[in-house]
Amino acid sequence: MEFRLALIGFGVVGRGFTEILVRKQEYLQRKYGLKVKYVGICDIKYGSVVSHEGLDPAKALETVKSGGTLEKHLNGVKGLNALEFIELSNADVVVEATWTNLEVGEPGLTHIKKALNAGKHVITTNKGPIALAFKELDSLAKSKGVKLLFSGTVMSGTPSIRTLIRGLAGCYVSEVAGILNGTTNYILTKMEEGLSFNEALRDAQLRGYAEADPTMDVDAWDPAAKIVILANIAFGSDIKPKDVIREGIRNVTLDNIKDALRRGKRVKLVARAWIDDGGIRAKVTPEEVDVNSFFGQVGGTVNAVMYRTDSLGDVYLIGRGAGGEEAGQAVLADLIELTL
Ligand SMILES: NC(=O)c1ccc[n+]([C@@H]2O[C@H](COP(=O)([O-])OP(=O)(O)OC[C@H]3O[C@@H](n4cnc5c(N)ncnc54)[C@H](OP(=O)(O)O)[C@@H]3O)[C@@H](O)[C@H]2O)c1
Repeated sequence: MEFRLALIGFGVVGRGFTEILVRKQEYLQRKYGLKVKYVGICDIKYGSVVSHEGLDPAKALETVKSGGTLEKHLNGVKGLNALEFIELSNADVVVEATWTNLEVGEPGLTHIKKALNAGKHVITTNKGPIALAFKELDSLAKSKGVKLLFSGTVMSGTPSIRTLIRGLAGCYVSEVAGILNGTTNYILTKMEEGLSFNEALRDAQLRGYAEADPTMDVDAWDPAAKIVILANIAFGSDIKPKDVIREGIRNVTLDNIKDALRRGKRVKLVARAWIDDGGIRAKVTPEEVDVNSFFGQVGGTVNAVMYRTDSLGDVYLIGRGAGGEEAGQAVLADLIELTL
């Protein structure tokens, strides 16, 4: 199957995905019959080009790597903003990989609506629109007869969402719990080695795991959005990030960590959602877990999730949760899903 693909956001994820596609082109065609024609790339920083005849993705990557702009080095219609870009594009799939905004979901939310309304499938790694408006976007996609896929929004390429939707299809899921933020897990792991919170945060920033403004991670906004996404799939609910009880790791001290270790426990930032008599509950808080438990063994930037089910008991998944290659793999898996 051949797709005409338009990409919005040529940052870490957009380029990570493109690199995989370029590298695995022959394999994907041989194994899945998948062929992809890039018909546009749109990015604030690198420029915007639409070409119905197709663009060379390898050239786009090279251009950006060597510090050039897409508009200078690729042929096509140039200078369009993302909405004009979607309108002019003849793509059947739009990949949305602009930055996350957990307050209003923009600019991704409008991009996704515009693409779905134009009858295009959408694949996104952008948590904001999915955490804030999944129900609305899902019904819009259904009404237009297209798919909205968003595997990369939780645990990147590690298939937390696909496992929940496909692998556990038909199971009754009563609880979801996870270590869904690699940055805070890394900080807590470093604190076990004796670093203070501030030292561990600085270390995470130097390694590129934490942003200069670490609020989304250390104040637990990011895992709150992720648990909302998983809960709404698992329970068919419509909770929002503001419904999540949220406490980050700023107040976790070295003494807390050491004291827990002395008792055979580790402090982990655990996101949980479950059903009780009052409805759907969700929280992200530091929790003490047994050193030898599943979550107790998840160290560094690794992510993990547990689904509590009726027929299978507890089902566990562990793997990398961030990075261009990892999130790019999520986009690829979604694209392959469109061929099934
Ligand atoms: N990186 C990861 O490991 C990872 C993993 C899973 C999910 N995600 C999610 O995937 C999305 C992309 O992440 P990323 O790491 O690739 O971010 P990134 O490196 O910052 O790339 C985003 C790109 O989108 C561009 N952009 C922003 N607004 C735009 C607009 N209105 N029109 C066109 N381009 C626009 C940005 O340009 P400017 O920089 O000039 O604004 C930037 O080049 C985010 O929502 C993120 O949360 C990331």
